[in-house]
Amino acid sequence: MENTKTKDKLLAKVAADFIGLDTVYTLANGKKSQRIYLDSTASTLMMGAAHDAVEAFYEHYANTHSILHFSAHISSKQYQWAHERILSFLKADPEIYTCFFTGSGTTAGINRLARVFRDYRPDQHIALISLMEHHSNDLPHRKHAEKVIHIPLNSYEGRAGCINLNALEDELLKNKGQVNYVAVTGVSNVTGIINPIYDIAELAHEYGALILIDGAQLVAHLPVQMSGHKNPNRNIDALVFSGHKTYVPGSPGAVICRKEILENIEPEEVGGGMVENVYVERYEVKTNFPDREEAGTPNIPGAIGLATAIDVLDRIGMEEIFDDEGELVLSALETIQKIPGIIIYGELDYKICPRAASISFNIKGMDHGLTAAILNDYHNIAVRNECFCAHPYVKEMILDDLLEATETVDEENFENAFKLKSGMVRASFGLYNTLSDIDALEQALIDITQNTELYTAQYHVDESDNYRHNTFNLALKNHFSVADFIDNYVNG
Ligand SMILES: Cc1ncc(COP(=O)(O)O)c(C=O)c1O
Repeated sequence: MENTKTKDKLLAKVAADFIGLDTVYTLANGKKSQRIYLDSTASTLMMGAAHDAVEAFYEHYANTHSILHFSAHISSKQYQWAHERILSFLKADPEIYTCFFTGSGTTAGINRLARVFRDYRPDQHIALISLMEHHSNDLPHRKHAEKVIHIPLNSYEGRAGCINLNALEDELLKNKGQVNYVAVTGVSNVTGIINPIYDIAELAHEYGALILIDGAQLVAHLPVQMSGHKNPNRNIDALVFSGHKTYVPGSPGAVICRKEILENIEPEEVGGGMVENVYVERYEVKTNFPDREEAGTPNIPGAIGLATAIDVLDRIGMEEIFDDEGELVLSALETIQKIPGIIIYGELDYKICPRAASISFNIKGMDHGLTAAILNDYHNIAVRNECFCAHPYVKEMILDDLLEATETVDEENFENAFKLKSGMVRASFGLYNTLSDIDALEQALIDITQNTELYTAQYHVDESDNYRHNTFNLALKNHFSVADFIDNYVNG
């Protein structure tokens, strides 16, 4: 009991301490209000503790790869701690797994692993992925695996659910001995629907395939256990995630992979830090991890910030975070589906189809871009729209409505209309969101659905197919520029 109370207190403290919770913008109606940030699935806000830890670390900042002077020693030690902390957070046994950081988020990590997996087992040329994947967990496999098969999703009277395990097993059986790996997302970045990653791992392993998890939307929202399962088939071979979706902007992507898979594959990037000896005629790659996978100077502050955020999440407890955020998702699902004219995508029953962090919807008859623009300009609610880099998944879910909506459009305007209607609006949540944010979203959507004509008349579509307010200039009203900041610094 005491432990739970302490955790609640910590959660409340951390939730109230993010950079950007007080950001105020001027709206199209002239009013100023505090931004409601519902775009965490794209990038989360920065955790105060991670910000402060990195700021403190800057006093000691120096390059790693040396322990001779005090600062280099401190930097190297803290950078090493960041790797260890991520492994322990994900319950990945450090004897078996390594963690290394990559340049550009999850995308870089999955590209690396698609090539590694191909070279690890060149005779097994098939990759199985689900139909709900982000392009970053689809295109790298198309590029590196000889054949990619998209596994369909469960369907509940036409509503999409998580990956269909029977269909997965069918493909594993049909292609036995040829499937190199199964790569699936832990959580959809569109609907927030959670995949049963350990069941998927068990199936994959039973048929001799490896398992790669896209953890971009998973790691900040659910507990993860990569190793130590009673049934070792449920262990995860590799997982990738992004710091900028885990409360630390701009930080690196992180790859956690069984060392045995990487051991005999030449690292993709070569240069300083990953070689033992270099001669004119040859070089010797280091055998130790993570060094051999991290050529060049790494993003040291980014990695330290990320490990700090993760340490704080761990101290709160990921079960508690999942429950806390689950209340938000459930409340959003329940309230928004009751608004006449709103379609929420995916199976709506949270018990059948649990979700984390995101829901996506449309107002029937209104383009996703217009809904998102009105939410921003009149309600100060930051959401994202379009296809969220998951074109096949989004198009599958909106296809019927899309065809219906474009039925009456003439040929000349078809392409434009198709584009404007091809997408959804996504509201997504992080540790800092509260039920009052959901209320605000609900009220805003009621307002929009009741005043559709009035709002629509305020907008036009610009040459880049974005909805723009006819008179309100967003950039002028809410100006921020780094160049101005520097001018003030220099001249102030
Ligand atoms: C599920 C999923 N996978 C991969 C990515 C790519 O992540 P990054 O942009 O950090 O490379 C995203 C980004 O939105 C995502 O949501």
